[in-house]
Amino acid sequence: MISPFSKNIRIITFYVFVFVVLLNVIIFLKTQNDNTLINIQSADNYTHDELDVQVNKKYCGVETKNGCRFLFAYHMPEQETSSNRHFLAFTQIARQLNRTIVLTNVGQSRIWSARQLPFDFYYNVQAFQKKFPDVNFITQEEFKKWTKERHSKPNAIHANIENKKPKNTFKYVKTKPKVLKEMRRFDFTFNNSSSFLQINIGNKNSWIKEEGHRSMINFLENTLSLEAEVILVVHDKNYLIKTDDSIPYAKHLTEAAERIVRKLDQYIAIHWRMERAEVEMMPECAKRLVDYLNRLTSRTGIKNIYLATDYPLSRKPQSDTFHKLSNEHHQAMKILNSSFQLDTWISTHSLDYLKEYTALERPLKDELKGGGLQGIVDKLILINATYFVSGPKGCCRILSKYTRRVVDERKELVKKGVTRIKNVVDRW
Ligand SMILES: *[C@@H]1O[C@H](CO)[C@@H](O)[C@H](O)[C@H]1NC(C)=O
Ligand SMILES: *[C@@H]1O[C@H](CO)[C@@H](O)[C@H](O)[C@H]1NC(C)=O
Ligand SMILES: *[C@@H]1O[C@H](CO)[C@@H](O)[C@H](O)[C@H]1NC(C)=O
Ligand SMILES: *[C@@H]1O[C@H](CO)[C@@H](O)[C@H](O)[C@H]1NC(C)=O
Ligand SMILES: *[C@@H]1O[C@H](CO)[C@@H](O)[C@H](O)[C@H]1NC(C)=O
Ligand SMILES: *[C@@H]1O[C@H](CO)[C@@H](O)[C@H](O)[C@H]1NC(C)=O
Repeated sequence: MISPFSKNIRIITFYVFVFVVLLNVIIFLKTQNDNTLINIQSADNYTHDELDVQVNKKYCGVETKNGCRFLFAYHMPEQETSSNRHFLAFTQIARQLNRTIVLTNVGQSRIWSARQLPFDFYYNVQAFQKKFPDVNFITQEEFKKWTKERHSKPNAIHANIENKKPKNTFKYVKTKPKVLKEMRRFDFTFNNSSSFLQINIGNKNSWIKEEGHRSMINFLENTLSLEAEVILVVHDKNYLIKTDDSIPYAKHLTEAAERIVRKLDQYIAIHWRMERAEVEMMPECAKRLVDYLNRLTSRTGIKNIYLATDYPLSRKPQSDTFHKLSNEHHQAMKILNSSFQLDTWISTHSLDYLKEYTALERPLKDELKGGGLQGIVDKLILINATYFVSGPKGCCRILSKYTRRVVDERKELVKKGVTRIKNVVDRW
């Protein structure tokens, strides 16, 4: 018989054994994983400053203790079409400031550090780099590692660009807890109260003209000429740096669109953004669209109709700012869908290939419930449509930047002599 005492000994021995095994496993894994620049043992021979120099060299190529300079536009408040241009504008500023630009994460139609997809999932970084051959890029992931590996943490300044008066002034403001919370995934230090700036650039009218615009940009660049290793920058919705240029889309997205464009060949593309339309008008709008399509299809003989919409083709609306879906919206879609066979990103299976990206399974699942990737592919399909039609006042959001971008691109193609395109835009 085993005495209770020796039973305890056995149990203790067992746990000690398990503990030792686990400890060894952990040590083994740690040494395996440690592919940082300097391993633990040899690190003893360097001072922290010397190690930081090595870390800087690895991430920004500068061999000094505080020599890295980054600009991190970490949150574009608007949807993709606008954010795209704003991000490009910040890249121009990064060039002026001689700073590396952090390629902020993307997702659900935003360029935002809190999102899960890497920047290159929306954008063609190689083509973007060609536009800015003299600007260094770093991915958000690498940038984050830099902050983590540093012994003395990089110092940061936060600049909030607001459309407030007096224009072209700045002041120090209180730290915003929301910002600090969002920045927790990185490892910065903010020295003190002068680390938070509010930059006032006045209202839109004051810099809509060329001269005001130029002086606003100069002011921004001067104010942001700071010593801090990291400048975090965020802006108001109305802030607008004028640029006709935009960041080109990732190859997998342009190729997905090209497959559909080839398949549809001759097609009428409809853009119906229902958000901010007048709800009671929805069914009437659908009837008018059906009449319009009847006339256009019988005149041209074109059978293929492609629909891009924020109406929920899957489950959620295809736009995260579209919250109030009503019976009228459903009615309108029924009227349209029962009159014509419509192609959409779902019916064409244009995004089915995303299943291959198994490592991004979770974020991609969220993405397809929102409007990011499908919004981009839709846009590329609309741009190349034989006929493009968008809603009249009341039926849709009429001043959409998304529609504007499609129209501008179509104008360009017509100018270049692409004869397949028969109109620029029509309102049904
Ligand atoms: C660290 O310093 C010790 C003692 O000076 C020396 O024996 C060892 O080789 C050094 N290690 C490295 C990696 O330089
Ligand atoms: C720009 O920054 C790099 C290091 O990041 C430095 O070597 C270079 O001299 C700077 N150029 C100018 C014009 O300041
Ligand atoms: C904050 O830090 C900066 C840079 O170290 C320094 O010039 C400034 O005087 C400090 N401000 C306050 C209020 O401590
Ligand atoms: C923060 O303080 C340190 C030490 O005084 C200084 O070197 C650094 O430039 C300061 N950073 C900012 C952003 O003011
Ligand atoms: C649209 O047409 C242009 C000009 O023909 C072409 O270069 C581009 O690849 C097309 N885009 C798509 C998505 O088909
Ligand atoms: C249109 O109807 C078909 C079948 O009747 C359905 O599969 C499709 O999802 C509908 N499309 C829209 C945009 O509601």
